[in-house]
Parts: sequence; structure tokens; C-alpha cells
Amino acid sequence: MNTLRPSPYQLARTRPIRLAVYRKARLSLRRRVLDVGAGGGEVAAEMASRTGRKVWALDLEPAVHEAAGIIPVAGTAAALPFADGSFDAVAFHFVLLWLNDPVACLEEVHRVLVPGGVAMALSEPDLTRREDAPDTGLGAALRAAVRNAGGHPDAGTRLAGWLRNSGFRSDVKETPPEWVCLEDPREAQWEIDYLVSTGTLAGADAASLRKAIDACWPPRVRLPVAFGCGWRL
Ligand SMILES: C[S@@+](CC[C@H](N)C(=O)[O-])C[C@H]1O[C@@H](n2cnc3c(N)ncnc32)[C@H](O)[C@@H]1O
Repeated sequence: MNTLRPSPYQLARTRPIRLAVYRKARLSLRRRVLDVGAGGGEVAAEMASRTGRKVWALDLEPAVHEAAGIIPVAGTAAALPFADGSFDAVAFHFVLLWLNDPVACLEEVHRVLVPGGVAMALSEPDLTRREDAPDTGLGAALRAAVRNAGGHPDAGTRLAGWLRNSGFRSDVKETPPEWVCLEDPREAQWEIDYLVSTGTLAGADAASLRKAIDACWPPRVRLPVAFGCGWRL
């Protein structure tokens, strides 16, 4: 599936969130760790370096370049190719919003965890509550892209309920409503390129969006991001 991978800027911005979840989940004590929807494997490699153990990194399209400390696995979140109770912790970062059926995925996560295991929701945004100042239309285009892909742009707000419906004791928080100033024009370009590649934006619309963003540089964005743990009892 063609999803918008978090840019290096986005990955850096959510790093403090990931570290808070790792601490809460006691990641360093977890022996077998799986990252679902691992993309390029950056987050799985981060967890491997923190635990000193290999981390399984599952994706429809597994990481092409094997990052340090990861075990790439091809598979779908809808039917994880692992036996019951195979993992002590399972992570996902910017993944549930892209899935047609996030609860089916979380039920699979529940199945492959041992009792006492933890699902680590490392960041799931709510794009329906994203604000752009000034409003260039970028937020609306991103919401459309997620909807076109069959996903859920409001994943962040629904995360706690999804975890509960999948059998977890859910402990979810949301980032404070702070404005972030984009620091590098390449971040907006990363998103525009994706929108063009999926046909969400035609070339001419992409050019006027770029122009609108450049005219108000640096634009500010406020995006609630949910994060936390689901405990498998
Ligand atoms: C937005 S990217 C996030 C990648 C990575 N977690 C990160 O934060 O860099 C979403 C990832 O989920 C993967 N994905 C989408 N649907 C999936 C499914 N049903 N099973 C497994 N992976 C899936 C995509 O291929 C993509 O790599």
C-alpha cells in the first residue's frame, strides 16, 4: 500500500513521544519485540539499539536496506505470520491511520503478545483536528489521501477505543495543543510529492499549494498525536 512515510523531520519530532512510551512499556526489559508497519525500519532500529536485541520489522513491503539490528519480515497486520504469544512487546508508529480495519490488526497484536505483554502506540495523529496557519489546504489534502487509501484520518482520537475493543487495557494520552513551526521547506515538499504520486493532487494544484506555502513561510501546524500503551492482561 502506498502510504505517506513519516519524513525525517516528523520522525525527529515524535522521538520524545516514542521515548516516553518506551519508558512506560519498560521496553528495555522486553525480550522479543515486533514493529508492525515498520516502513524503512528506522523505529525498529531505534528500539534494537535501546534493547541491545534484534527487533522484528514487519511490513507489506519490508525494509529494503536491512537497518542495524532488525529482522525484516514480509506480511500483513491483518494476519500476523507469528504463533500466539510470540512477543513481549509490539510497536506501531503512524500505522493504524492507514489500515482499513485497525481493530482486526490490534486483535492480531493481542494474539501474538504473551499475557503481560504490551502494545506500544508510538504516535497516531488525528488529521481531522489538524490546523494549519494560514490554511493552505495541505491538511485537507492529507486527510483526503488517507481516506482515499481506505484509512482513518481520525485514528488518534479513536485509538483508546480501538485498543479497548481489541481486548487491551488502554492507557492513551494526547500531545498538548501546541503550534509547531515547520523548519525546512523539504518537509512540505515531502508531503506534496506524496500527494502527487497518489493522484490526490494534480500537478497544477501541487504547484499552487507550494506557492501558497512559500508565500507564508514558515507555516505553523497544530496536530494532535495520540500515544500510549495497551496492556494485554
Ligand atoms: C506511514 S508508514 C509508517 C512507517 C514506519 N512505522 C515509520 O513510522 O517510519 C505506514 C507503513 O505501514 C505499512 N502498512 C500499511 N498497511 C499495512 C498492513 N496491512 N500490514 C502491514 N503493514 C502495512 C506501509 O507499507 C507503511 O510502510
